[in-house]
Amino acid sequence: MKVPFVDLKALHDEISDELREVFDRVLNSSAFVLGPEVQQFERDFAAYIGTDHCVAVNTGTAALHLALAALDIGPGDEVITVPHTFIATAEAISAVGARPVFVDIDPTSLTMDPGLLEAAITSKTRAIIPVDLYGQVADMDAIQEIADRHGIPVIEDACQAHGAEYKGRKAGSFGIAGCFSFYPGKNLGACGEGGAVTTNDAELAQRIRLWRDHGSSKRYEHIFPGLNMRMEGIQGGILSVKLKYLDRWNDERRSAAKEYNIALSDTEFGIPTEMPYNRHVYHLYVIQSNNRDLLREQLAEAGIESGLHYPTPLHLQEAYRFLGYEKGEFPVTERIKDRILSLPMYPGIKPEAIGRVVSGLRESCYVG
Ligand SMILES: Cc1ncc(COP(=O)(O)O)c(C=O)c1O
Repeated sequence: MKVPFVDLKALHDEISDELREVFDRVLNSSAFVLGPEVQQFERDFAAYIGTDHCVAVNTGTAALHLALAALDIGPGDEVITVPHTFIATAEAISAVGARPVFVDIDPTSLTMDPGLLEAAITSKTRAIIPVDLYGQVADMDAIQEIADRHGIPVIEDACQAHGAEYKGRKAGSFGIAGCFSFYPGKNLGACGEGGAVTTNDAELAQRIRLWRDHGSSKRYEHIFPGLNMRMEGIQGGILSVKLKYLDRWNDERRSAAKEYNIALSDTEFGIPTEMPYNRHVYHLYVIQSNNRDLLREQLAEAGIESGLHYPTPLHLQEAYRFLGYEKGEFPVTERIKDRILSLPMYPGIKPEAIGRVVSGLRESCYVG
């Protein structure tokens, strides 16, 4: 039995009639870019997250980029984030001309270590971007407390955490803005690209709306030179349909994580920790092993797909060599990068598939 890393086909088959209706509606209305489907999704998603506003854009990278741009962050400014994330978090900082500054992660939550944050703040720091990695919200109270003391806005990278909760509040409702990706494999994914910024700040939302549409609120009148980062009508409609299923799908991910946890509890693999204040939504289920590469090979031989999120930390990427960081500067990130292994995880994953992954892991002679 082969076990895929994700199975989007099965997910979409279940709701294909509803998705086809969206396609027909948009084809009939020709509202291909922004328009009523996107407006409806913005209302639906803001209500779901619990913020006053949602601005839909074309990717998660754009959401981060425009949140920074709308705060007038640019050349000469520093923005703090973590080195253990997808490169898009730092690319958005680079895109506005600012400098990424990294802070290591906590070894248990694998999100930004608030204990290291203050030392990274300088007179040039203009924003802090914690990442809700793998589907678990960063320690937002601790981060926000430090940010408030220094008067620095927090932008939450919630691209992997649709529906996750921190102390009962949804990911994307912290800080001045939350940024989401709707890349197809995300917990809430479009049938193509998509992204959004959620915020309670009306002025910021309005600036992001202008930024995403050429700095324009009226056709061919431009207040400033913006960009084209608009969401497509079809994606807005599809996301509204899929949002209705998000809680159920997240529950299914949580049940699968529980099954993995139980089945692996007597092995020497490190299993993910759900922090006591969090409701983890397991965008990724990531174990740790001292023999990760061999284990991964053996799983592949048994027809079991796995992933690495992420094999090279940002400070060691060629793209960020110019920042001047050296090996050894972020010991937690550097220690786990060779140990992490993402196992198959998606809504509707069958108990037999989980059983197959677990026995594949157990059969490996490299347990631990
Ligand atoms: C943590 C994180 N930030 C940002 C992004 C960027 O999102 P997108 O691929 O939609 O541009 C992603 C998506 O992969 C992500 O996982």
